[in-house]
Amino acid sequence: MPHDTSLYSGRPSDLIGKQIAGYRIEREVGRGGMAVVYRAKDLRLDRTVALKLLAPELARNDTFRKRFTHESRVAAAIDHPHIVPVFEAGETDGVLYIAMRYVAGRDLRHLLDREGPLAIADATRIAIQVASALDAAHDHGLVHRDVKPGNILVAAGTDSDHPEHVYLTDFGLTKKSLSLTGFTTVGQFVGTLDYVAPEQISGRPVDGRCDVYSLACVVHETLTGRPPFQRDDDMALLWAHQYDQPPALTSQRPELAEPVDGVLAKALAKSPDDRYESCLAFVTALRAAATGVVAAGHAPTQVDMRAVGVPRHPGPVPEPPGWARPVFPGSAR
Ligand SMILES: Nc1ncnc2c1ncn2[C@@H]1O[C@H](COP(=O)(O)OP(=O)(O)OP(=O)(O)O)[C@@H](O)[C@H]1O
Ligand SMILES: [Mg+2]
Repeated sequence: MPHDTSLYSGRPSDLIGKQIAGYRIEREVGRGGMAVVYRAKDLRLDRTVALKLLAPELARNDTFRKRFTHESRVAAAIDHPHIVPVFEAGETDGVLYIAMRYVAGRDLRHLLDREGPLAIADATRIAIQVASALDAAHDHGLVHRDVKPGNILVAAGTDSDHPEHVYLTDFGLTKKSLSLTGFTTVGQFVGTLDYVAPEQISGRPVDGRCDVYSLACVVHETLTGRPPFQRDDDMALLWAHQYDQPPALTSQRPELAEPVDGVLAKALAKSPDDRYESCLAFVTALRAAATGVVAAGHAPTQVDMRAVGVPRHPGPVPEPPGWARPVFPGSAR
């Protein structure tokens, strides 16, 4: 078979030490639904990169193949401090690959699994970096469509004011179109169901506001340890995204200032028209609500919160010291 190559037998350990398109594979750093990511050495420039290899069975699938090729072009087109830079993409011996900056650290999925819910200051600092990357993509007419903790890489920052540097990756599902549905031509849903916006589910046109929704789901999980909706099966979860009210953040984090509930409710609104216009508008409002500082415009009022169905609640309670732990302990993966 032409695509069953000696480069990729399906067992990752078989590739360690091998050379692919001028990169020497050093070790596996992670795998997702359609690819395996390795740390590798670019032998031409003698630098470490992250090398993403498409699973061979997917390389034979035209839909996945196109999406993978598209990812590299889209990501390479945006130059932003919080978007992982793409160095090269191509195909060798039937294997599709993409070489990008190796981000030493861990993704937000691992971080949450290890640390549990984060302090509000840490959560908003991470969210602001992701939001700026997303808004930059939206300014290019691109919608990420797969914002989730596994696509948010957290590296060590420069100083105590910037304890971590966050990168958004995986633009494989980004489409330079405002009218594509969330389904592939083979009927598979694109992306993880925990973070998917109602309009992606129903196949309505999507724009940057679907990333606002997904980012809000990520923020909810960052602060509570759980995405807003958890159901026993996929159909129930899709239903919940479309019709159920998300639980108030303060029901799981009672020490948070009550106005954060209104901010999350607005970012998670079922209709894109009822959400924040941009990701930064959402996260800025969240930070202002959490600290009681009024941002540009105004912080959500009781009227705003009644409009989005959030009940009145007593005033803010300070976070206990236990929540104020550092997000990034400085250890590389
Ligand atoms: N540039 C990078 N530097 C370091 N590690 C990376 C890099 N890109 C991805 N990774 C790691 O590889 C893992 C797998 O990435 P991949 O995009 O294949 O899967 P995923 O995002 O978890 O799932 P999905 O396939 O649904 O997007 C990531 O979760 C991350 O830990
Ligand atoms: Mg990914």
